[in-house]
Amino acid sequence: MTSIDSLLTETRRFAPDPEFTAGSVAGRELYDRAADDRLAYWADRARELHWHTPFEQVLDWSNPPFARWFADGTLNVAYNCLDRHVLAGYGDRVAIHWEGEPGDSRTLTYGELTAQVKRAANALAALGVGQGDRVAIYLPVVPEAVVAMLAVARLGAIHSVVFGGFSAESLRARIEDAEAKVVITADGGYRKGKVFPLKATVDAALEGETTIEHVLVVKRGGNEVAWTEGRDLWWDDAMADADLDHEAKGFDAENPLFILYTSGTTGKPKGILHTSGGYLTQAAATHHDVFDLHPESDVFWCTADIGWVTGHSYVVYGPLANGATQLMYEGTPDTPHPGRWWELIEKYGVTILYTAPTAIRSFMKLGRQIPQKFDLSSLRLLGSVGEPINPEAWVWYRDVIGGGSTPVVDTWWQTETGAMMISALPGVTTLKPGSAQVPIPGVKIDILSDDGARVDPPNGGLLTVRDPWPSMLRGIWGDPERFVETYWEKFRDDGWRYFAGDGAHVDEDGDIWLLGRIDDVMNVSGHRLSTTEIESALVGNPVVAEAAVVGASDETTGQAVVAFVIVKQSHREEHTDDEFVQLLRAHVAQAIGAIARPRDIYIVTELPKTRSGKIMRRLLRDVAEGRAIGDTTTLADTSVMQIISDKLRSGA
Ligand code: WT7
Repeated sequence: MTSIDSLLTETRRFAPDPEFTAGSVAGRELYDRAADDRLAYWADRARELHWHTPFEQVLDWSNPPFARWFADGTLNVAYNCLDRHVLAGYGDRVAIHWEGEPGDSRTLTYGELTAQVKRAANALAALGVGQGDRVAIYLPVVPEAVVAMLAVARLGAIHSVVFGGFSAESLRARIEDAEAKVVITADGGYRKGKVFPLKATVDAALEGETTIEHVLVVKRGGNEVAWTEGRDLWWDDAMADADLDHEAKGFDAENPLFILYTSGTTGKPKGILHTSGGYLTQAAATHHDVFDLHPESDVFWCTADIGWVTGHSYVVYGPLANGATQLMYEGTPDTPHPGRWWELIEKYGVTILYTAPTAIRSFMKLGRQIPQKFDLSSLRLLGSVGEPINPEAWVWYRDVIGGGSTPVVDTWWQTETGAMMISALPGVTTLKPGSAQVPIPGVKIDILSDDGARVDPPNGGLLTVRDPWPSMLRGIWGDPERFVETYWEKFRDDGWRYFAGDGAHVDEDGDIWLLGRIDDVMNVSGHRLSTTEIESALVGNPVVAEAAVVGASDETTGQAVVAFVIVKQSHREEHTDDEFVQLLRAHVAQAIGAIARPRDIYIVTELPKTRSGKIMRRLLRDVAEGRAIGDTTTLADTSVMQIISDKLRSGA
């Protein structure tokens, strides 16, 4: 990862092209309006949506940190994403160009998508799903995923989308925590040229006691599936039996919309809860402003899976609330050939691309000759999200993908913030490669020291948000104490500031540079993983006595999972170290999902601990990154690090 020093010496600047500024939908006046009256500004943005009952109240912060936005208004989130556009005469506009990995494709207009969501809402209602019920969604990136999410939203129910790469165990934990009633899945999906099973994983997740009454199965992979009569239903059959018409009712602005699980510093993932009116307001406003969206002519492509928050806010809710046309792609970037993404951009005339630095860095490695074989001239704006983007990757992205002329916006936000919080506006801001730059209009960010004092440039500190924002999380599902403790306790005396868990510093121009997580959360390819969760998975294997996990910097994935494991004396003789490594890598993938599989596992006999028994991850990170080992004086046994590094150097 880029160090503070190199960031501070980054002097390249890219002023907006006057022509871009002239045609852009969001100008400098947004900052003025928000500075003038922040609540009036957000109320105006909220009024861009359709309200069944208009709101009077903007923000209720009488019971911090539990915010309520637009609380006396009612709306229907799905109506805002669908019916509204059809009624305004845009029923024939393409909502989704979908491309499957094997090359099959489907196009859905707003009219068609609306019709499908109405049917799906009726189908779910027939299974007993109503307001407040939880529906788990475990699907590949297929149009039905969007239909399912919106159908749940239309009923005022709550979806919990679980990324298709998560294991049965992870899926089960999420279903249990939310006490979901229905799961929507597929037989299988395509990945790297093969069908991976999903229904079988759902079956495994539902073994024994479960709150799930029905499993709806979308046909996608064509693979064989086991069937539980009475519980399992084909999506197509349920849709065929469902009524065509469905009236969208208004629900309270604070009606929960979704739960999305994300890793925290403890082993148990947090169910981040988002509600309706404020979430949709900020997802739509940021999608419109930051991407300079011209819905009549743009083709937007966000490459995220719908299993992550980026997929929620910038595949489903933001683009559809804005009546945008977008591309969705099921598969991996390199299947069947390494130019697949560029081929898709050419084929669909994509104008705005939103992706993660890890993808950009892996394309850089493959070389510019691959994208250069395709016509990428339709692109006029590029976005980045998920982790800090190093200046070299930023400049490569602009030069090679953006033809040396497109703005690149680096957007900082989190599952918890629901929508973008820090980003340039492409027609306004002079861009700086590597910096996420400025808070979006209506958001206030402060960099504070540990004791709540404001940090002056160029020093680093903790990233905090000063006042509630519309799309902020409303809690952790079933755990209000953890919500307060994780995000608010630290700076509650400073007026309830939200603590993001990221380090950052501000430069002399007031631009913000993100420095990565300051807690035990790793960022691997833009995905959040908890060191503790992976450690618990490792310790869950009977051969493991102790485990420590660190995030080591990695050229492509930002960070990589590196584990240090002590094998129990009683099992030592069963395998060679190499065999243990293979077995334990597979074990973690099985327990959590392939994204958590450690890049390296070192079998060791001791772990470095302080006298109070705390594992010193800093030292392990030194080893994992091949650096000289730092200060070991606080170790209980100072010889431990010597033993570990000797062993690793000898290649044992
Ligand atoms: C964490 C949130 C927001 C969608 C994807 C990740 C890191 C995110 C940036 C950025 C530097 C970033 C932070 C944050 N992060 N965007 N533009 N620059 N860091 O969502 O899984 O909730 O992870 O991702 O560390 O806390 P998430």
